[in-house]
Amino acid sequence: MSQRIAVIAGDGIGVEVIAAGRRVLDALAQGQPGLVLQYTDFPWGTTYYHEHGRYMPEDGLQQLKDFDAIYFGAVGAPDVPDALSLWQLLIPMRRSFDQYVNLRPTRLLRGVQSPLANPGDIDVVVVRENTEGEYSDVGGRIFSGTEREVVIQESIFTRQGVERVVRYAFERARTRRKRVTGATKSNGIRVTMPFFDEVFFAVAKEYPDVEAGVMHADALAAQLVLRPARFDVIVGSNLLGDILSEITAAITGAIGIAPSANLDPERRYPSMFEPIHGSAPDITGQGIANPIGAIWAAALMLDHLGRPAEAARILSAIEATTAAGNLTPDLGGHATTQQVTDAIIARLSHATA
Ligand code: NAI
Ligand code: MG
Repeated sequence: MSQRIAVIAGDGIGVEVIAAGRRVLDALAQGQPGLVLQYTDFPWGTTYYHEHGRYMPEDGLQQLKDFDAIYFGAVGAPDVPDALSLWQLLIPMRRSFDQYVNLRPTRLLRGVQSPLANPGDIDVVVVRENTEGEYSDVGGRIFSGTEREVVIQESIFTRQGVERVVRYAFERARTRRKRVTGATKSNGIRVTMPFFDEVFFAVAKEYPDVEAGVMHADALAAQLVLRPARFDVIVGSNLLGDILSEITAAITGAIGIAPSANLDPERRYPSMFEPIHGSAPDITGQGIANPIGAIWAAALMLDHLGRPAEAARILSAIEATTAAGNLTPDLGGHATTQQVTDAIIARLSHATA
């Protein structure tokens, strides 16, 4: 069966790492007659914006909605405010396609040095709420620049919104080490966060086989640095999940490794798969971007498309590559994007043979 994939490489190193990810996918598909990936490229991003005054066409979401998945690089450039690129391309996809789970797995791969002195065996999945919470587009600003200036930004938490993301976290945990930590801040944020906790514990009751607890996000952040190996699945609101998943990425090596999946678990819309890093203008065009985040994201995509065995093969090829010391400069090595990608592809075919 063929899978239709919309590819939005975007800006900067997004273009370089998505090309790498596609090479790996193609190499994998070559040995698997049952796996046919059909790509359609969308040239959306900052260049498109400079030509058309917007990051994607007016009917862009319409064009994407019937694909099986979206493979996304990164968006953002120094000459355009980041909020514009984010809110015109990335966030509309997450919201309109109800990709309410932002899944961010991180693992300390063999051969990769953690910045922590005693990292232990880190293997954490952050499940971040992706459609509401602190990122709700409700608020305003008046009397700009005067002493009467007022700014308001509302957080919106719905029962359905919290419940479904928490339930997803518990389901994930069942396939792993069966422990869920809810990230909260119910001591300081006195309306939405106690509500989050309440819904969390109501859902937890349905999963007696999973160990469940909440921690204040500040303490949790510290524990992620001090004792990261104790965590399995962490679930949090849009903002807390964003921040905590940046910590889990950092302690497992570098931002260039970490992938993320924006999932509509009900599969009404395409889900989107991307590395968590941005467009990295500081290293664009040098051929040294770490392709692992994008390649791991491709593995998450295959997993979602019902090909867990192929996804696992990509992940073992990635880890065999890092274990052999084949690393880009961000991980302390000297390899180029191309060399690391070649090494991963070579190890894929070992796995087939
Ligand atoms: P960034 O993730 O692009 O870069 C941060 C640092 O990490 C830079 O020093 C960069 O060279 C390095 N880095 C990132 N990915 C790497 C990789 N694969 N290999 C080697 N080194 C890597 O974040 P920054 O600098 O804050 O943002 C740059 C632009 O990207 C901005 O316009 C920002 O809005 C955008 N951005 C887009 C995201 C997305 O599309 N999902 C996410 C984060 C930022
Ligand atoms: Mg972030």
